[in-house]
Amino acid sequence: MRGGQRLREESISTLPSLLTAHCPLSSVLCPLSSDPLYLLVMNQTYDSILGLRAIRAFQDRPVSEPDLKALLQAARWTGSSKNVQNWSFVVIDDPEQKEAICAAGDFMTPVRNAPMVICLVENPSGYEFDTGRLAQNIMLAADALGMASCPVTLHREEVAFEILGLPEGYRCRYGVAIGYPSGLSAPSKVGGRKPIGELVHRNRFESAE
Ligand SMILES: Cc1cc2nc3c(=O)[nH]c(=O)nc-3n(C[C@H](O)[C@H](O)[C@H](O)COP(=O)(O)O)c2cc1C
Repeated sequence: MRGGQRLREESISTLPSLLTAHCPLSSVLCPLSSDPLYLLVMNQTYDSILGLRAIRAFQDRPVSEPDLKALLQAARWTGSSKNVQNWSFVVIDDPEQKEAICAAGDFMTPVRNAPMVICLVENPSGYEFDTGRLAQNIMLAADALGMASCPVTLHREEVAFEILGLPEGYRCRYGVAIGYPSGLSAPSKVGGRKPIGELVHRNRFESAE
C-alpha cells in the first residue's frame, strides 16, 4: 500500500505524525503542512514532487529493462495538447553514442556520468510544453523506481539532429539522464526555491515596487 492510501484511511487526529513518518520532505518544506485540512491531501506523490532534485552522479550499472519499460510507460502516459502525443523517445545506452550526443549540449556531465539518456524528440507540430511534462513524468517515475535523473539541454539542435538520425521536421532539445544513484548522488548545490510570496499574484500581476 502506498503512503498516500494509508494516510487517507487514518483519522485526521493521527495525520501529523503519519505525515512526518511517510512524507518527511513535505512536512519540512511545505509551510502549510501544519494545517489539518492540508494534511488530508498530502501523500507520497506530493512528497516526491517536493523532494525531486537534479542528480548528476550515478552507479555504473545499466538501467534494467523492466525499469526502462516502466519509465517509458510513464512517459507515454503524459498528457499532451489535444492528446496529439507528437513525441518520440531515443534511448541512448551505447557508450559511444552517449559520448557523441554530448557534443550537442554545453552541460552534459549528467549524461557522461549516467548509463542512459532518454532524448525527448518533438515530432513535427510537437510542443515544447509537452516535452517539459514528459521530462517531469520521467523524472518522477525514476524517483519512484529508486533511480535518479537530471534534465539536460541540447543547445545545438542541429548536432542532436544528426547524431540521433532524426527525420526532417523532427527536433530534439532536451534529454533526461537516468541511472541508479551512487554514494556521490547529492544535488550539486544547496537548492531551495523562491518563496511563494515572491512568485504568486492574485487576479493581476502586482509589481513588488
Ligand atoms: C529545462 C531544463 C534544462 C536543464 N539543463 C541542464 C543541463 O543541460 N545540464 C545540467 O547539468 N542540468 C540541467 N538542468 C538541471 C537544472 O540545473 C536543475 O534542475 C536546477 O539547478 C535545480 O536543481 P534542483 O532541482 O536539484 O534543485 C536543466 C533543468 C531544466 C528544467
